[in-house]
Parts: sequence; C-alpha cells; structure tokens
Amino acid sequence: MKTITLCTIAVVLSAGLCFTASGFAGVADKGPDTMTLATTIDKAKKPKPAVFPHAKHQEELTCGTCHHSKDADGNKIDYVDGQKIEKCELCHNKAAGMPKKINSFKNAAHVKCKGCHKSKDKKLAKCSVCHPKKK
Ligand code: HEC
Ligand code: HEC
Ligand code: HEC
Ligand code: HEC
Repeated sequence: MKTITLCTIAVVLSAGLCFTASGFAGVADKGPDTMTLATTIDKAKKPKPAVFPHAKHQEELTCGTCHHSKDADGNKIDYVDGQKIEKCELCHNKAAGMPKKINSFKNAAHVKCKGCHKSKDKKLAKCSVCHPKKK
C-alpha cells in the first residue's frame, strides 16, 4: 500500500494543511482540494500564481480532461486510472522542446484552463478569475 504525505509536495496548501492519504489499489489519489499553481522553472519577472479549486473541477470533469503522460518517444498518452500524476511543468517547460503553444507551464495552462473557461463563459476567462489581485 502506498502512503503519500501531501505536505511534501510543492503546492501551497491553505493554512499549512497537512495530512496523510493511504491509496488502495484502484482508488486514485485525488490530490489536494485547492492549490496555488506557481511555476518553478520558467518564472516570469513578476510571478503570477494561479488559484485552482481542484476538488470543484473534479466534481464536473474526468481526470483525463487535464492529466496525461507521455511515452518514451515523447508522445502523449491519455490518462489511465491510477497512473502516476506528475507536475505539468515537468514536461511543459522551455527546455523540453514542446510546441511553442504549450512550451511552459503558463502556456500549457492557458491553453487548457483559459481555453475551457473561454468556451464556457467569457467572464470566466478574465485574468482575475485565476490570478486574483492582491489585497
Ligand atoms: C483559467 C485560469 C487562468 C486565466 C483566466 C489566466 N491565467 Fe495566467 N496562468 C494560469 C495558470 C494555471 C498559470 C501557471 C502558473 C504559473 O505559471 O506560475 C498561469 C501563468 C501565467 C503567467 C506566468 C506567471 C509566472 O509566475 O511565471 C502570466 C504572466 C499569466 N498567467 C498572465 C495571465 C494574464 C495576463 C491573463 C489574462 C489575460 C491570464 N493569465 C489568465 C491560469 C490562468
Ligand atoms: C481541471 C483540470 C484537472 C482535473 C479535472 C483534475 N486535475 Fe488533478 N491536478 C490538476 C493540476 C493543474 C494539478 C497541479 C499540477 C502541477 O502542480 O503541475 C493537479 C494535481 C493533482 C495531483 C497531485 C500531483 C502532485 O504530486 O503534485 C493529483 C494526485 C491529482 N491531481 C489527481 C487527480 C485525479 C485523480 C483527478 C480525477 C478525479 C484529477 N486530478 C482531476 C488539474 C486537474
Ligand atoms: C509526462 C509528461 C506530461 C505531463 C506531466 C503533462 N503533459 Fe501535457 N502534454 C504532454 C505531451 C507529450 C503532449 C503532446 C505534445 C505535442 O502535441 O507535441 C501534451 C499536450 C498537452 C496539451 C495540448 C494538447 C491537449 O491535450 O490539449 C495541453 C494543453 C497540455 N498538455 C496541458 C497539460 C497540463 C495542464 C498538465 C498538468 C495538469 C500537463 N499537460 C501535464 C506531456 C505531458
Ligand atoms: C474543461 C473545462 C475546465 C478546465 C479545463 C478548467 N476549468 Fe476552471 N472552471 C470551469 C468552469 C465551468 C468553472 C465555473 C464553475 C462554477 O462556477 O461552478 C470554473 C471555475 C474556475 C475558477 C473559479 C471558481 C470559483 O469558485 O469561482 C477558478 C479559479 C478556476 N476555474 C481555475 C482553473 C484553473 C487554474 C484551471 C487549469 C489548471 C482550470 N480552471 C481548468 C471549467 C474548467
């Protein structure tokens, strides 16, 4: 049985929330409920972390809407239940030679996140939905 300590992952969890999840065969680790997504590789001069209510999206969408992996030749493999889920920027970074549209966390996220938001409702594609202004 695998044990994953979520406090070791590099996402900002609200109020230092730390817990341990035990994964049973067939039950996918659903990851954190909410995250602050921030690139660590291709950083902009002015960081713009994005808020992401993960659990809320999981209610409506399948895991494979966002998660996938790649084979040894670098081709995309569709999501399969129980697969290892890696950080987007592990593959989507400027050194990895991806197509320009998706060659960084920012670009891949904008295609995926902003793309869907725009198709649902123009207001959901406003920068401040994901990049709230600091108070
Ligand atoms: C639906 C969500 C969403 C919307 C809408 C959105 N972004 Fe983003 N954006 C992200 C995510 C996720 C990232 C990846 C996090 C990162 O790069 O640190 C990101 C990354 C960025 C980055 C790089 C930040 C960094 O620290 O390197 C910039 C700059 C940016 N967005 C600007 C914008 C602007 C300007 C708009 C509006 C025109 C916008 N974004 C709209 C989700 C969104
Ligand atoms: C709307 C897009 C979206 C959907 C749907 C989604 N996720 Fe995620 N998930 C993400 C993003 C973005 C991250 C953060 C990745 C990163 O930090 O680069 C993440 C992170 C995770 C992580 C933590 C990985 C780590 O170690 O940082 C797990 C586990 C996970 N998701 C599982 C799931 C499962 C299981 C489902 C389906 C029940 C699911 N996700 C549905 C976008 C999504
Ligand atoms: C293990 C490597 C890997 C990880 C991790 C990964 N991707 Fe990808 N992704 C790929 C590959 C390979 C392709 C296909 C690239 C091509 O078309 O040349 C791709 C394609 C895409 C595309 C364009 C095609 C499509 O499906 O819409 C988007 C957008 C995308 N990824 C977003 C993400 C996001 C967001 C995450 C994190 C939740 C993520 N990727 C995690 C490897 C990865
Ligand atoms: C396939 C569609 C889809 C994808 C992909 C997607 N979203 Fe969303 N997102 C939605 C919809 C639809 C809503 C509005 C849901 C609601 O208000 O109930 C939403 C709402 C949100 C909200 C606002 C939540 C609130 O409480 O008002 C944020 C922030 C957000 N998404 C960030 C992201 C980020 C960041 C990503 C990429 C990592 C992402 N979304 C990917 C469809 C999507």
